[in-house]
Amino acid sequence: MVRAPGRFNLIGEHTDYNQGLVMPAAIDRAMTLYFGHQANSRQLRAFSHDFGEVLIDNDPTGLPGWGQYLWGVRQILHDVNIPVMGTDITITSHIPSGAGLSSSAALCCGLVSGISRLHNVFIPEREIALMAQAAEHLAGVHCGLMDQYAVMFGQKDRLLALDCSSMHIEYLPLTLNENRLWLVDSGVRHELAAGQAYNERRQSCERVVGIISDKELKPISSLRAISPALLRTYAELLDPIDYRRAQYVLEENERVRRAGEALQAGNLASLGTLLSETHEGLRRQYEVTVEETDWLVDYLRGLPGVWGARQLGAGFGGCVLVLATGELPPTLAADYRTATGLEAKVYPIRPDEGLSVWVL
Ligand code: GLA
Repeated sequence: MVRAPGRFNLIGEHTDYNQGLVMPAAIDRAMTLYFGHQANSRQLRAFSHDFGEVLIDNDPTGLPGWGQYLWGVRQILHDVNIPVMGTDITITSHIPSGAGLSSSAALCCGLVSGISRLHNVFIPEREIALMAQAAEHLAGVHCGLMDQYAVMFGQKDRLLALDCSSMHIEYLPLTLNENRLWLVDSGVRHELAAGQAYNERRQSCERVVGIISDKELKPISSLRAISPALLRTYAELLDPIDYRRAQYVLEENERVRRAGEALQAGNLASLGTLLSETHEGLRRQYEVTVEETDWLVDYLRGLPGVWGARQLGAGFGGCVLVLATGELPPTLAADYRTATGLEAKVYPIRPDEGLSVWVL
């Protein structure tokens, strides 16, 4: 049996695939996956209490979204000679899907961990993270490694200060005293469009790196190796949309650095401001927010006791992360309904342990 948590990310959005800085954590909402052998079967069968049953073979055609991830994991395990046929999986999840809490990384890390252990194969955690990422790539989303690392290496009440160029983790205690982190789920889901828009943003960043690399006559591996001044030098030469996106990434790395300092100094006002600045960057430069999450952030930021708020995860809906003193006002849900016609769900969030495996 595997317990695989979702993740949140305090700050550092769309920086992981640019070898940048991120500050995620596993959360206290998880999925549980039970694994068993199915005698005389050549199939991989999974049953989800939320989505029903899927049977996986070597053809992904016609599979639902979550089935595509299973198929991706099947391919990756097949490549390293871990048998997947005749495996039976039951999944119960308390991670809202499409909410920016990375239920997909929890699923893929959970599957790789569970199926390998079922066959008595021991795979180191970093390898599991890489294999889960590769499975997501096969399913069509060219994600970074932040989510898988948070799922595998999460610790209670600590954030991972993760440098995605070295993949070095430092743990930062999250001391909030009387303050809390909240998630407000906007109820907006644009999963398919978001997958494509995500890949386009990644391509923008890669184009910028490619052009600057050519002009500088030296290999540059990522935006991480490009300073704001160097980027400005090539402003005229770059597509304006690509330029804006790259500028956002460089600024976001700097915000993550400053958020680390603010956390260590216990300066929540400064941390809150940085969160709100990230949202502005996501809204105006990276263009991955939607009207509903913008509405929530604008509304929340006007409330007493709110230090800052921003949209969480890849974007195009999902949750807004809020740093506030005490509770959020009970009128929030009704005001949101009046403005958008949608239901918002509010829940507190805290860093928790990463994935765990039990052999029953
Ligand atoms: C998704 C991806 C991550 C990361 C975030 C945006 O969650 O899976 O790798 O890029 O979006 O920060």
